[in-house]
Amino acid sequence: MTHVADRATAGFRTTYGVSPAGRWAAPGRVNLIGEHTDYNDGFVLPFALPLRTVVAAVPQPTDRWTVWSEVSGRRAEFGAAEADTPGRVTGWGGYVAGVVWALRDAGYAVPGARLAIASDVPLGAGLSSSAALEAAVLTALVDLGGLDLPTERQPRLAQRAENAYVGAPTGIMDQSAAIRCRAGHALFLDCRDESVEHIPFDLDAAGLAMLVVDSRAPHRHADGEYASRRAACEKAAGLLGVPALRDVAVADLGDTLSRLPDDQTRRRVRHVVTENQRVLDIVALLRTGRVPEIGPLLTASHASMRDDFEITVPEIDTAVEAALAAGALGARMTGGGFGGCVLALVEATAADDVAHAVTEAYAGRGFAAPGHHTVLPAAGTTRLG
Ligand code: GLA
Repeated sequence: MTHVADRATAGFRTTYGVSPAGRWAAPGRVNLIGEHTDYNDGFVLPFALPLRTVVAAVPQPTDRWTVWSEVSGRRAEFGAAEADTPGRVTGWGGYVAGVVWALRDAGYAVPGARLAIASDVPLGAGLSSSAALEAAVLTALVDLGGLDLPTERQPRLAQRAENAYVGAPTGIMDQSAAIRCRAGHALFLDCRDESVEHIPFDLDAAGLAMLVVDSRAPHRHADGEYASRRAACEKAAGLLGVPALRDVAVADLGDTLSRLPDDQTRRRVRHVVTENQRVLDIVALLRTGRVPEIGPLLTASHASMRDDFEITVPEIDTAVEAALAAGALGARMTGGGFGGCVLALVEATAADDVAHAVTEAYAGRGFAAPGHHTVLPAAGTTRLG
């Protein structure tokens, strides 16, 4: 297949009859550990994928934005009035309009632009194709307009596009990963103050590989369930009298849980508090190069998501169990849940066998065949020129 940047350029030329002024890329992500902790002011550890969304663009002198996308094969067009009304532009164009809105709402003079978008990030696979789109468009507009918006402040604006314009109540992780990740590193992000540390994550040197299995499970009720998990966490923090579940110490967990009114709330809180600790534990292991030892923590995270947070589905659990049975050092669902992808940490020489075992287990359960590939940590948003 043609390289994604070339497809964006070709789409741009065909649509607008001129060459783009530049091209900007932003990656999809997987989250190594720290699930549903971001909106609890906690810790996450995502890394960027080598799969990217590319925006080719030129500025135009009016407050209008025209966007061609390879996925739809169509153009969307909107002006300042539509951009300034959250929710007015719908579908994939809404993510672009949302970025224009978030920038304008923050007082930036966003240049009008013509854009063309191509992407290798699969849609609906839990790899944050929407954050990749927001991040690519944001960095293109920032560059084209010469806007004074430092990289570390960009994720919040991209998140506002998603929360307030598109209307999805997601946290800060995906946009931070798309914008701030570094090749060869995982991004240790404190979601309360947005401080980051780039943690070396050298799988090759450890003789390991990270297998990403696309469960191909349809995202069942993902939006409503995500919002209800978030609401449950915020309610629990209120009951406990803390600003966010981040403020519950793992050492006090027993006492904390006894103050909660029902078993379901206790399990939701236990997931978030123990998951934050698993992020810190994995960061500590990676800092000292003990990569293979993170496996059991990945698997513990999965059990917590399955039993306490209740966000897994049978396809996902099957993939994790089959990967572990075939010798993976650890495996877990990554992302918001109810479908999406599974990560399996494997000996590099065993990657094919583990992938095969998952495919066999799927066939045995009558599930549609899963997808799989091995990945290395890639870079965040990049200007391609
Ligand atoms: C989705 C959201 C993120 C995060 C994860 C769960 O990917 O967009 O903000 O909450 O789910 O960790």
